[in-house]
Amino acid sequence: MTKRQVIIDTDPGQDDALAILLALGSSQELDVLGLTCVAGNVPLDLTTRNARIICELAGRPDMAIFAGCAEPLERSLVTAEEVHGKTGLDGPDWAEPAMQLQDQHAVDWMIETLLAADDGSITLCPVGPLTNVATALTRAPDIAPKIAEIVLMGGGYFKGGNITPAAEFNIYVDPQAAKIVFASGVPIVAMPLDVTHEALMSKDWVASVGALGTDVGDKCQAMLSFYERYDVERYGGDGGPLHDPATIAYLLKPELYTGKKVFVDVEVDSELTMGMTVVDWWGKTNNPPNATWITEVDSDGFFGLVLERLAALG
Ligand code: BDR
Ligand code: CA
Repeated sequence: MTKRQVIIDTDPGQDDALAILLALGSSQELDVLGLTCVAGNVPLDLTTRNARIICELAGRPDMAIFAGCAEPLERSLVTAEEVHGKTGLDGPDWAEPAMQLQDQHAVDWMIETLLAADDGSITLCPVGPLTNVATALTRAPDIAPKIAEIVLMGGGYFKGGNITPAAEFNIYVDPQAAKIVFASGVPIVAMPLDVTHEALMSKDWVASVGALGTDVGDKCQAMLSFYERYDVERYGGDGGPLHDPATIAYLLKPELYTGKKVFVDVEVDSELTMGMTVVDWWGKTNNPPNATWITEVDSDGFFGLVLERLAALG
């Protein structure tokens, strides 16, 4: 089986951590070429630390991890410690990582790697603000045809926002970057809040992660128990959404997801609705679709897949 080549662009974050672990636990299907870190949930020095912690947890200290943009393109960085804790990866006790970051800037590596690749051969999975990806596309537009697909976590339309009433966190932090990515012409699959809030963790599922009896299982249980307390307080219910792994799950089992090809634009002018993803669900603009907007998921299939691949990490 030909493995799909993937670059994960990330701001870990407990749910980013689960996305990375899901990808690394799926080595039959995915060849993760590297992780590119961006500032988002916490500043860049912490997202690069957290990415290294997670790769070491997965037994992959060989993974290439790059530091990218420390600030959004035009706006000041907004972080989300209220959700993810002071370190971004609160929950377990972590030892400081021993593995080193690569010297090259994430954007330079992304450009170099894509330019050397065949057309349509590398999939990007951005699960944080889109600053790195937009910077790469702006600086080297020739990379666009090399990208098979951008499968991103971001946005919200039917379910509104989670950082403001109108905007989802990843898009809000760098709306200018998101606008560039949605206008890039690269095929996009968007995993918005509309779908991630359709797959809520249950206490039993988090317990089953802990019951794996492995270090990965123990650490994930501790991360998820910390992380979901915020969503349970805010949204009620038994457990919170697990946003970022939706991107990797889509690569592994697209049949779990349903969406529609639509035109999406991003608000960059109004402070009231800054970072809102405006989805032309009913084709009112006549603009050709630029993204597949996912709205439905087989929740049991999703959580079963994540558990299976965490178990595969041993
Ligand atoms: C997104 O924002 C971050 O807090 C999460 O890691 C996820 O990528 C959800 O809105
Ligand atoms: Ca994230």
